[in-house]
Amino acid sequence: MQQPQGSDTLFAQHWNIYQQIIAHNYMQHQALSALVNPWHSNAFGHTVISLLDIGAGDARIIARQKPRGLLCHYTGIDVSAEAIQLAEKHLQEANIPATLHCQDFMTLLPQLTNTFHVVYASFALHHVSNDDKRKVLQEICRLLQPKGQFVWIDVFAREHQSREHYLEAYQQRMQQWTALDATALQLLTHHVVRFDFPCSINEAMRWSREAGLTCTSAHMADDVHGILVLQKP
Ligand SMILES: C[S@@+](CC[C@H](N)C(=O)[O-])C[C@H]1O[C@@H](n2cnc3c(N)ncnc32)[C@H](O)[C@@H]1O
Repeated sequence: MQQPQGSDTLFAQHWNIYQQIIAHNYMQHQALSALVNPWHSNAFGHTVISLLDIGAGDARIIARQKPRGLLCHYTGIDVSAEAIQLAEKHLQEANIPATLHCQDFMTLLPQLTNTFHVVYASFALHHVSNDDKRKVLQEICRLLQPKGQFVWIDVFAREHQSREHYLEAYQQRMQQWTALDATALQLLTHHVVRFDFPCSINEAMRWSREAGLTCTSAHMADDVHGILVLQKP
């Protein structure tokens, strides 16, 4: 099996393609980010929250939502320098104090020592192998404050679906993404084949449980794109 790699040329060189995907809601960003519990329920009873965003991208969605004024500090990690530059701009515009790391999250997470009310990973964890997902979940549990929540938005494979079948189905789905031109679709296909290593939602829940996190809600926006909210005891 092809091994995932941290460095990602699509996001490093073609951030505009991903922006079009978000603008047309092809990956259900709108529906999924609207469901993020911590900023609706403020489950911790805190007046402000600190947030760690793993695979932050350009942080535009978080900056726009401004978690209902709750967000007191944002820490973002992304391996793409272009994404980090955009994130810095979006967070500054939204007046959110931020610390941004342009680094591989597999390297950085074990080095972080402060804790967070919320850890957020949107469409980032499917880029790493299943073994690395399990390591990331252990780190997330360590980095969360008691009762802290981990919001995991991602693509998920069907139960027992092979990676080959997943890739075939996802490429078929992308044919409906008519706002993208042929070159963009070709780059995207290359990216998905090279970097997508999704697990199933049951695997995600099992590994989260093993890491010490309890699932408080799970929702699929369609048959691939979903959200899990997990809590530390
Ligand atoms: C699909 S984008 C998601 C961006 C944003 N979280 C969102 O939901 O719009 C995936 C992001 O994860 C980043 N990424 C992938 N693997 C990474 C790694 N090992 N370390 C840090 N960032 C990574 C990519 O550079 C990219 O910005």
